[in-house]
Amino acid sequence: MKTIVTGGAGFIGSHLVKKLVKLGRKVIVIDDFSSGSIENLNSLGIKKSKIEIRKIDLTNFKETKKALRGGNIIFHLAARVGGLTYLHSAEDAELLALTENLAIDANVFKACLENRVKKIIYTSSTAVYPYNKQKKLGTVFSEKDFQIDSYQLCFDPDGGYGLSKIMGEFQLNLIKKIEIGIARLFNIYGENEPIDQKAHAICDLAKKAIHYPKEKFIVWGNGNQTRDYLYVEDCVGALIKIEEKILHSSPLILNIGSGEATPIKEIAEKMILFSGKKIKPTFDLKKPVGPISRTADIEKAKTILNWQPKISLEGGLKRTFIWIQKKLND
Ligand SMILES: NC(=O)c1ccc[n+]([C@@H]2O[C@H](COP(=O)([O-])OP(=O)(O)OC[C@H]3O[C@@H](n4cnc5c(N)ncnc54)[C@H](O)[C@@H]3O)[C@@H](O)[C@H]2O)c1
Repeated sequence: MKTIVTGGAGFIGSHLVKKLVKLGRKVIVIDDFSSGSIENLNSLGIKKSKIEIRKIDLTNFKETKKALRGGNIIFHLAARVGGLTYLHSAEDAELLALTENLAIDANVFKACLENRVKKIIYTSSTAVYPYNKQKKLGTVFSEKDFQIDSYQLCFDPDGGYGLSKIMGEFQLNLIKKIEIGIARLFNIYGENEPIDQKAHAICDLAKKAIHYPKEKFIVWGNGNQTRDYLYVEDCVGALIKIEEKILHSSPLILNIGSGEATPIKEIAEKMILFSGKKIKPTFDLKKPVGPISRTADIEKAKTILNWQPKISLEGGLKRTFIWIQKKLND
């Protein structure tokens, strides 16, 4: 049985490929290497002989259809994705996230149908949930807060990126001949996360602590804003369990997160601790912070998958910090 991972050279994709290879699967990695890299696969010790790599731009349908041939199970992770600045503030960011992701998803789903794929596991996002509810602390979302079994009259996603994931979920809900799993990922972190302009808050704060005092240690906002952080290996464990549990009838939709709300200032404190330096953070209230809070209700995933996060936040952050430190020193 061949398993395809689109975006398999990316952050989460590379960890998923590692786990699938360990389980003895034949894995095909599809990626255009716009953000992913061979280095991501090598650094996790994945042997080239164990995988097949197809360099494909999934915005091109002909290439997509050809590349997806021979796969029974598809983990579809490829997308334009990144941190707050990359996805929302840069020029044309919203438009590009929307149009590129719509094109990638539509091509992949059509090619899956034409190639008679058996299962699709799609990485959706917390960004599908109503943005307006995320302006206060304590916001927890269960899967019922956004449903795709009826056409809702209004959406309130997090930007063009969130809208593209909503459209991805709607398309999947209309597919009848393939078993579908949809993982609404919250904030995933760990080794291989981009540390360039696409970096999320954890990598950004780790870099600032490592570079201090050459670089100022600035936290965006007052630091009280919270996110739901899940270590990448726990995320991959859930994706694989979703594949096992998918039923034919309708998409299995699950929040995948830690279920815990962590203020960003707590992440900053941990990064300072790991650096071993005496740093007093500056809080810049003029910087954008995105949602004030969003946390996953993960009861459904725990029950259906018999899964729960194994790695503590402290442990996962330490691993990530050490990896970034090494990467910056190489
Ligand atoms: N990282 C998170 O916290 C998070 C949260 C919610 C959802 N997700 C979703 O999980 C998936 C993986 O995200 P990630 O964080 O690993 O990001 P990533 O950028 O590391 O991975 C995406 C991969 O897709 C590839 N790609 C992009 N455009 C492509 C194209 N046109 N053709 C072929 N390949 C292309 C990139 O090169 C990259 O390897 C995405 O679908 C993302 O939306 C991630």
